[in-house]
Amino acid sequence: MGNTILKVENIQKYYGNKGNITKAIDHISFEVKEGEFIGIMGASGSGKTTLLNCVSTIDSVTSGKIYIDNSDITKLKGGKLADFRREKLGFIFQQFNLLDTLTAYENIAMALSIMGVSVKEIQKRVAEVAKILDIEAVLAKYPYEMSGGQQQRVAAARAMVTNPSMILADEPTGALDSRSARMLLSQLKKLNEEKEATILMVTHDSYSASYCKRILFIKDGKIFQELVRGQENRKEFYGKILEVVSLLGGEQDDDM
Ligand SMILES: Nc1ncnc2c1ncn2[C@@H]1O[C@H](COP(=O)(O)OP(=O)(O)O)[C@@H](O)[C@H]1O
Ligand SMILES: [Mg+2]
Repeated sequence: MGNTILKVENIQKYYGNKGNITKAIDHISFEVKEGEFIGIMGASGSGKTTLLNCVSTIDSVTSGKIYIDNSDITKLKGGKLADFRREKLGFIFQQFNLLDTLTAYENIAMALSIMGVSVKEIQKRVAEVAKILDIEAVLAKYPYEMSGGQQQRVAAARAMVTNPSMILADEPTGALDSRSARMLLSQLKKLNEEKEATILMVTHDSYSASYCKRILFIKDGKIFQELVRGQENRKEFYGKILEVVSLLGGEQDDDM
């Protein structure tokens, strides 16, 4: 584990205007190093999605700085921002977001074609990620011909194939049954371990979070606690997560 991929420096995000302000993020700072698999947990409304959207350049911060690969993304605009997002970041959303009129292969290959990568190189890279994610058998299928779990693994392949600096996932298991969720999580873990992919995953689900190596707990827009997985196995780590979640108060029932 080496370079700092992400540096979030004292960010704030306010919504609304005078007299009716929501502090969605209230002075958050943290760093993510290359090869980390980090989780962001917190109850509904705690600011998880806002934080992810600020990091992913979908939303802008009110104050503070965010560096990805040493570029201050709060300063990027227009075409430069779009290029940055396409080249440096991979996204996995709760609702898969595959293009219905394209096959799995085409969905995965699209960003590479836009970047001007050769057909031969595209074939090689898609084959490699498809193998890791166990979706070789569905590459010729359209999204409606695949299960939710398969679609989400295709989405993970799409996020990964460009070799982004970081993969950002917002509740990636939120729309999956528990078996498909387990499968996706173990494949994300594999991407992290075998391809050294850096993954930042937002989740309200303690079980999903137990696959991470480190977890930041957010409460009312602030970092409430941090848990680092040491030598303990996933089950033991899961137990620790449940303890923090009970301290945080309330059942984590957010699905948004
Ligand atoms: N576009 C928006 N306009 C106004 N308030 C918002 C907006 N997005 C989020 N919020 C508020 O910011 C807070 C954090 O929301 P969010 O980041 O979605 O939390 P989480 O993902 O943890 O459920 C909540 O109080 C929410 O109502
Ligand atoms: Mg959310």
